[in-house]
Order: sequence, then structure tokens, then C-alpha cells
Amino acid sequence: MTIRPRAAVRRAAAALTALGVLGALAACAPGAEPAASTQSQVEVFTWWASGSEKLASDVLTSAFRRANPEIEFIHGGVAGGAGSAAKDVLASRMANGDPPDSFQVHGGAELAEQIAAGEVSDLTALYADLGLDRALPQVVLDLVSADGIPYAVPTNVHRANLVWSNPSVLADSGIDPLATFATLDEWFVALDRVRASGHTPLVLGAPWTQVHLLEQVLLSRLGPAGYTALWDGSGDSAEVTAAIEDYARLLGYANPDRDALDWSDCADRLDSGEAAFLVMGDWAAQLLRDPIGWQPFPGTDGVDDIVVDGFAQAVGAPDPENARLWLATVAAPDVQIAFADAKGAAPARSDIPSVDLGTYPRRALESLRTDEIVLSLAHGGVTTPQALAELTAVVGRLGRGQASTSEVQESLTAAARAWQPAGPSGS
Ligand code: GAL
Repeated sequence: MTIRPRAAVRRAAAALTALGVLGALAACAPGAEPAASTQSQVEVFTWWASGSEKLASDVLTSAFRRANPEIEFIHGGVAGGAGSAAKDVLASRMANGDPPDSFQVHGGAELAEQIAAGEVSDLTALYADLGLDRALPQVVLDLVSADGIPYAVPTNVHRANLVWSNPSVLADSGIDPLATFATLDEWFVALDRVRASGHTPLVLGAPWTQVHLLEQVLLSRLGPAGYTALWDGSGDSAEVTAAIEDYARLLGYANPDRDALDWSDCADRLDSGEAAFLVMGDWAAQLLRDPIGWQPFPGTDGVDDIVVDGFAQAVGAPDPENARLWLATVAAPDVQIAFADAKGAAPARSDIPSVDLGTYPRRALESLRTDEIVLSLAHGGVTTPQALAELTAVVGRLGRGQASTSEVQESLTAAARAWQPAGPSGS
């Protein structure tokens, strides 16, 4: 990561440059390097900072550099799946008055919190310039807006409710490698078979991946309407209790060393045959290629549990104009096409013809267009970052035998109360 001078220093340097002071000083000092801070820069803060995610974010970076060769691009990356490490770093930078120009954010409750905190800029003018309000599907536009005002430019839409499988391990366990599991109960039968054959049935990672799995179990057991009702407080709590019990049962099929693994480590284990199944979003498509199989999480066929990724412009961005150039880059149709392929996602824009997309993005787009949509719990869609962090901590403790299922349910209820969706834009 490139070290960037603090915003205040850069602003002072820019002011001095405008006055010709730095130029004069440089001229007085033979052999002195020109101050790096005088160059136009943009810093973009993201957790797409390692492995396949960094490669995908390089697609965006390269497009920006091609379009803006005179601007120094600073990749402010903090690696860690789902922003598990980045979010705290960003929060403390914002609190310390040291915002990047642009930062990655999930559409939905996560962005809504930042809007409420006054941390993100109104992008109405940019949307008008780019015609973006007409280019995005309404569901995506709503998730990046408040009161009809857009605050982030979405890059892509992921699907969270997938299970990936290693066909060799399944065959070795006497399971048809192409088998599909229509319900959680059918899947439990398969998990038992894998265990009986001596393999690890399920690879699980750090607590955020555990919340990701819990989310899928809730969706499977409650159905899309029941799952969505959770977030307005009208969910059936007895069904939730039962679903959390199912989740706790699933932990018994998973690797005990889970807390130290990020999602890419889990993907490696599935790939190398150390486990039969992995529950992970379609960003794993970049690591898990043929012959690895995938299907909707059992009991969620016909549902698209969406995760909207995007970038916002920070209030107080040192280079607001450069931030907007960055946002315009990631909004461009050709960039969204290339990024969807590299990331394993549907593009956020809905005006891109399917024929222009790669194989997986085309399927993801189809799912987005035709499936029933729900919002992700683990990826910022339905609750505040703080409530999600608290839930993640309790779920992690459950996994270590230090919390009960009823504590998880209490935390889930608190997370559901922490944020109420505002409804369609403008309403
Ligand atoms: C999600 C994010 C995805 C991917 C994933 C794993 O929260 O929306 O784009 O980065 O985490 O890191």
C-alpha cells in the first residue's frame, strides 16, 4: 500500500503550489525531489486487497489509470473478507478527519448508516451526468439511495446463497457428484454420509463466514417472506429458534479450526478435497472452477440473496473531483462488464445486454432479474455495522462453545431492531 500524506498536509501543499511557493522552493534547492503531494491523487479505500479480489479490483484501477493518466491512484486496501478488517480502519479514519477520497460500501443498511452519519456525499449531479438513475435496476438504486438521493455508485451485485461442492469427495462418500439438495434436511443426510466416509463435510471460516452460513439457514427455513419479515420485526420467533438450532447442528459438521480462516482459505480447502462443501457467495467463483460444483443453498432455489457492492465519495474527501472521476470510471458499462467477469457477479447496471457478459455474470443477471430478491444479513443489507459486529461476535462465541443459541437469537433480534428499511426511494 502506498503511504499517503495526511489530508491536511496535502491540502496545504496544494494551496502552496497554487501560490507558486513550492515551485519556488524546489527551484532554490538543487537536486531536491518535487514534493509527491503536489501531484493530483485519488485514494480509494477497499477490502478487495488480496488474491482474486485484488485481481478483480485491478480491473477498476487499470480503467481509471487509462482514463486519468495524470492522476496518481492510491489503492488504500485493507484485506479481509467482507470488509472484516477494513471497516474498523475506515471508521477510525473517518473519526480522525482523515477520510480517503472514495471508499467501498455495501448497499442497504451499511450505507444508510453512513448517510445518517453525514459521511458520504450526495451524488445526484454525478448520477444526472452519467444517466445512472435510468441505468440501474430499481432494487439496486433503492439500496444506494436515501430519500431519492443517491450516495454510492454500485459496481456489481453478488449472490450470497450458494453452496459449493467437491465432486471427488462426494463420489468418495457414495453421493452423486451432481446431486442437488432441495431442502436442508436432504443436505443433512448428505453431510452425514460424508462424515461417515471420514471426510470433513463442511469447511467454515472466521465468524463473518459463520454469520453468512446462519443467514442461509434462516433463509432456507423461513423462506424469503419469513426471512425478510425478520428485519421489520414481524418474524416468527419459534421458527427462528429452530433455524438457529439447525445452524448449531451444522457446526458439528465443520472444521474446528474455523476462526483463523478467511473465505479464500476455505475455498482452497474445498478445492484440494479437504472438505465436501463450502457455503459462500458467488465471489468464490473466481477460485472454484471446474470440476467444483455449485447450487443454490438447500431450500433457497428461486431466491437471490443479493449483496450490492459500490463506492461512495467521502465527505471531506481531499480530492472530491478525482473521487467523482473514479466513480464515473466504475459506473461505465465496459468497466462493469469486465469487472463482473473478474469478480464473479452480475453487473449493477441493468442496461447491459446479456450477450456482452461472460458465462457466470449472465447467469447471475438472470437470477437477479427473475428470482425473488432478499437482502444479505452478513453483507450489510439489513442491519447496522455495529449490530452486525455484535451479532458476529456472539455467533463466533457460539462456535467456540462460549455462547448459547438463545444468546444468538437475542442478538439477532437486536440486529433486526437496529435498522428499519425506508422503503422505495422517495417514499
Ligand atoms: C462481500 C463483498 C464481496 C466480497 C466478499 C468477500 O461482503 O460484498 O464483494 O468481497 O465480501 O470478501
